[in-house]
Amino acid sequence: MKGVNGIIMITKSTNKINETTFYLSGKTMSYIMAVDKIGYLRHIYHGSKIRPRGGSEIRNLDAAWTAYVEDRIILETALFEYPAYGHADLRIPSYSVTNSGGDSVSELKFKGFEIKENHVPELNGLPCVFAGGKTAQTLEITLADEKSGLEAVLLYTVFEEYDVLLRSVVFRNTSDKPINIDSAYSANVDIEQGDYDLIYFAGSWGRERDLHRQPIQLGSKTDISAARGSSSHCINPFVMIAERGADEEHGNVFGFSLIYSGNHSSMIECDHSGNVRVMQGINPLDFGKELKPGESFETPQCVLSFSADGIGGISRELSDLYRNNLCRSKWVHRERPVLINNWEATYFDFNEEKLLAIAKKAKEAGIELFVLDDGWFGKRDDDTSGLGDWFVNLKKLPSGLDGLAKKINDIGLDFGLWIEPEMVNPDSELYRAHPDWAIHVEGREPALSRNQLILDLSRPEVCDYIIDAISKVLSGANISYVKWDMNRPMTDMPRKGYNYEYMLGFYRVMGTLTSSFPDILFEGCAGGGGRFDAGVLAYMPQIWTSDDSDAIARLKIQYSTSMGYPISSMGAHVTAVPNHQVGRVTPLKTRADVAYTGAFGYELDITKMSDEEFEEVKRQVEKVKKLRGLTLNGDFYRLKSPYETNCCMWETVSKDKSEVFVMVCRVLNTANTNEPHVRLTALDPDADYRDEETGRIYGGDELMYMGVVPVYENRDFSSFTMHLKRV
Ligand code: DGJ
Repeated sequence: MKGVNGIIMITKSTNKINETTFYLSGKTMSYIMAVDKIGYLRHIYHGSKIRPRGGSEIRNLDAAWTAYVEDRIILETALFEYPAYGHADLRIPSYSVTNSGGDSVSELKFKGFEIKENHVPELNGLPCVFAGGKTAQTLEITLADEKSGLEAVLLYTVFEEYDVLLRSVVFRNTSDKPINIDSAYSANVDIEQGDYDLIYFAGSWGRERDLHRQPIQLGSKTDISAARGSSSHCINPFVMIAERGADEEHGNVFGFSLIYSGNHSSMIECDHSGNVRVMQGINPLDFGKELKPGESFETPQCVLSFSADGIGGISRELSDLYRNNLCRSKWVHRERPVLINNWEATYFDFNEEKLLAIAKKAKEAGIELFVLDDGWFGKRDDDTSGLGDWFVNLKKLPSGLDGLAKKINDIGLDFGLWIEPEMVNPDSELYRAHPDWAIHVEGREPALSRNQLILDLSRPEVCDYIIDAISKVLSGANISYVKWDMNRPMTDMPRKGYNYEYMLGFYRVMGTLTSSFPDILFEGCAGGGGRFDAGVLAYMPQIWTSDDSDAIARLKIQYSTSMGYPISSMGAHVTAVPNHQVGRVTPLKTRADVAYTGAFGYELDITKMSDEEFEEVKRQVEKVKKLRGLTLNGDFYRLKSPYETNCCMWETVSKDKSEVFVMVCRVLNTANTNEPHVRLTALDPDADYRDEETGRIYGGDELMYMGVVPVYENRDFSSFTMHLKRV
């Protein structure tokens, strides 16, 4: 047995069935695959760590009535690493091609492998995880289709410190004829038969990432996919497969997260033996890539995670991975400023005086950053015009951006700005100068959405224009924060595979701007949370979670978003009541209590608040400043689900268990009921903890096992929090 630092191990044939077996290990998980005697790369195991032995068993069923290969081995219920189409596996394939002869048959067999020590792959122009001081190895397995000359290099990276596996595929055309790739998933895992549930996140504008869980049924094919240009409000590129009965803290759960912001698909098929095939990658719909001789193509990276400790285990692992090994912004480890954004306060109707009045009052409350949202540039009094014209509207802001930023700075606040760099309104100087720069199909009128079109980021000159125009804005004033918005789905794409080309341009623009302005805190946004994905998180440490800022709606949105993303990445604002999206009136306390677990801010006209409310805001700002370090670095636990109960409860605990914040919100009030105790988790049972607000001391054991009776107001939508520190 050959070992490589213990996390990738290889054994040679011991049982004449497997030629070579690969053992990959993480902190507590193993992933095993083997080359069978025919040369197929078979999946053997993914789950809790097991010690490598001298070979692993491949189960072969004898052919009864179906297609088979030599020795009557059937493939249609075999477990594969990267299944092909057209031969003896009759399920949905991981990739498909049109060969030069017009057929689609493909058969990948093992050609060789290489192990790269202390190595995490960098993908060409695509965001991906980096080593970040962790111990990582990459195994590259080359599979080849002898007949067509297509090669697929499967990349597997494991870390000693994590229970994740990074997967991606590089296709190469080694023939002298073109090969068309029609679909190309980044990863496939064939999970051996069992009872599993699929967990996924679906929704729409204002109700992003609603949690769904459904049993995976024999014979079903479920495509959790989006083809809307961005990762989208509708389906998130993060899914989990949970053993039936697995919950937040118990049971085997597999996570699949795609580090990609474009069209995506997570395909789940349950074959007639009950094996569950899970694939994740670029959505095959409208995808296509011609590989000329000698050319190659790279898929986005997929993060496979495994936890034997339930859904919460997956969430905490991904949070750590994204915070430490994905996001390149220095802000990812910095406490975020408490901000105030003028969007819901003024919408497009503002002038300098109004903005400065908000900023002055915000300063008095202890707020640190003023963000000027949409409407500051070009001719932009509503959403019908101006996008693309990235120069200040002097009618609204006579001192210019620079002048306004100085005035805001003089008040004592940092200055932040909204941009939507990928877009253009037909009513804009940019569009009049370059109508062909908008995505369109020659001879067809492209569909409008929010009166705007998308710029063609597959064209380098368009990307260069955006980089140049936005760089001028960012270097022309003292800007500390940028909200990068994207407000429409992508339509009228000029050719198959266009969305991938667009994404490469998008990542170039975003990568260039975020690295040229490393001190700026960037927040992603797409009509609310329409592009909340790990691709954006690679560049920006936080993303606006949803335009629905109602505290009760946010319970569900933040609860489910936290399953796949760090809580520090979720933009969360306190807004006015009645809430602008749903009309609900919730207490100011509840609005803040829910927003504390996120990148906190206000988005209301603070000058219109009563004295009493303003004093409360001051106290909230003081409180969030004490909590934000914990939000940034802590472990998050979901204790009661707003999807299942009338109450939502969550808790953040510092890694050393010395600090904890718990938030519980009772949605509807009921007369004459006993409120259940709030029982915490993951504390040190032998330590004592002091409540920072009341000064009362509790035992860690008491907090976890007996719990505390929450204090609610006698009304709907009341919340209760405790911030505790170990004494
Ligand atoms: C959509 C965003 O989600 C909002 O917060 C706001 O920035 C508007 N766009 C501005 O047009």
